[in-house]
Amino acid sequence: MIKIFDTTLRDGEQSPGCSMNLHEKLQLARQLERLGVDIIEAGFPAASQGDFESVQAIARSLSKTTICGLARCTKDDIDAAYNAIKDAAYQRIHVFIATSDIHLKHKLKKTRSEVLASIAEHVGYAKSLVDDVEFSCEDASRTDLDFLCEAVAVAIKSGATTINLPDTVGYAVPEEYANMIKTVIDNVEGADQVDISVHCHNDLGMAVANSLAAVNVGATQVECTINGIGERAGNAACEEIVMALKTRNDYYGKDTSVVTTEIMRTSNLLEQITASRVSPTKPIVGKNVFAHESGIHQHGVLQEKSTYEIMDPAMIGIQEAENLVLGKHSGKHALRTKLEELGYEVDDAQIEEVFIDFKSIADSKKQIYDRDIHALMIKEYQKLSGGYELVDYSSFTSNGKESKTIIKLSNGKDTIERVGSGAGPVDAAFDCMANIVGDKFQLEDFAIHSVTRGKDALGETFLSLRSNGDVYNGKGLSNDIIKSSIIAYVNAVNQEQYKPTEDQE
Ligand code: KIV
Ligand code: ZN
Repeated sequence: MIKIFDTTLRDGEQSPGCSMNLHEKLQLARQLERLGVDIIEAGFPAASQGDFESVQAIARSLSKTTICGLARCTKDDIDAAYNAIKDAAYQRIHVFIATSDIHLKHKLKKTRSEVLASIAEHVGYAKSLVDDVEFSCEDASRTDLDFLCEAVAVAIKSGATTINLPDTVGYAVPEEYANMIKTVIDNVEGADQVDISVHCHNDLGMAVANSLAAVNVGATQVECTINGIGERAGNAACEEIVMALKTRNDYYGKDTSVVTTEIMRTSNLLEQITASRVSPTKPIVGKNVFAHESGIHQHGVLQEKSTYEIMDPAMIGIQEAENLVLGKHSGKHALRTKLEELGYEVDDAQIEEVFIDFKSIADSKKQIYDRDIHALMIKEYQKLSGGYELVDYSSFTSNGKESKTIIKLSNGKDTIERVGSGAGPVDAAFDCMANIVGDKFQLEDFAIHSVTRGKDALGETFLSLRSNGDVYNGKGLSNDIIKSSIIAYVNAVNQEQYKPTEDQE
């Protein structure tokens, strides 16, 4: 069995525009538990109060999955990680320090023997708090192999039960990375008694290949993120690792505990929460992955699916037909039943709120699909995050004339109303938003597409704003595309409050 260690909520959340609020993190953590990953790295508790609180909330609300908190080699970090995860049913502390000469010289300004002493002290300290301790040699793939073996030996002697050897900068190639893993397994005393973990970044597009090459020589844990989100080019994608092991079980001969039929739902949920769109050609979860365009391929698939399909879409939870769920006459009970079926937990107060939004969509849209319900729920979680809320808007546009849009927003205390102008109604709406929130946000990306089919389909807007070097993603949803664009802008602006407060290395 290969353990799947999901770090979407920690390493993944560090990617530009992917910050999540507490409700969104909890929602995703619950879905990761349903997906069946073995360990959830819920965050870096010492990084900020917000991170601490979300790790703690996740630790308190899940019951089957091991919850892990990240810590640098300092007692304060380890105490924060311990306090955040201590109420979890299964707890893990993940301690790390860099071991490559480049990091020792330029970042840590420590000698090799100082690093070894720090590993012994801090892995030992974490072990005094919990049984399950993971230790990572940051930048392992650029570390001198003899020193790497020394560092791993010290960590194992000090009580680490998992040793993680990251390709932090995405520099490794598969044969070389596998050789590093094998050298450690073959040469370090006790390495066969602990889990050997891999954690690969995708800078050269080899994160998944490197992880699988390591599995082939004895790695027993893979660290990954949903949709491959993460720093720079991202981390190894969880769905790709899991489906490669499953589809090529004849080659790898290794299983995971992941419930593959939950993959698509998890990917969609993350896409909705972070408003970070999955590329149509993204392996496993991209929307083109099971579409056959060429006539020859279509013909083959119609005769026999296995001619051009190596995976059954049902295996990853893709429904052949979109299932029609509810309509304008559906009541609260039907809505609650549907929400539970889709995996959402809602209390009585929330169902009242969601029902109001549901009714307003149902009034303007005849058929409501599962995807509409998912989109509706994300809107609910975004509402809980505070910040600005759209109260009203009007837009005036005609051919060849400048458009005008008036927007009224509430910030919880006051209502603010401004006017904006532009080449079209959306341009005018964004000009108006800049008049309200200031011009520090630059529009970086903007896309609208329909959630389902039909002329009454909801329009989903994904948009990215840049401010002071940070990127904020926002999503809007309405069957009026001007409204959905304004909501996306408002949500992106509201994301600014979840910006990590400290350098997470
Ligand atoms: O990429 C990396 O080295 C990390 C460590 C903190 C495990 O994310
Ligand atoms: Zn990483």
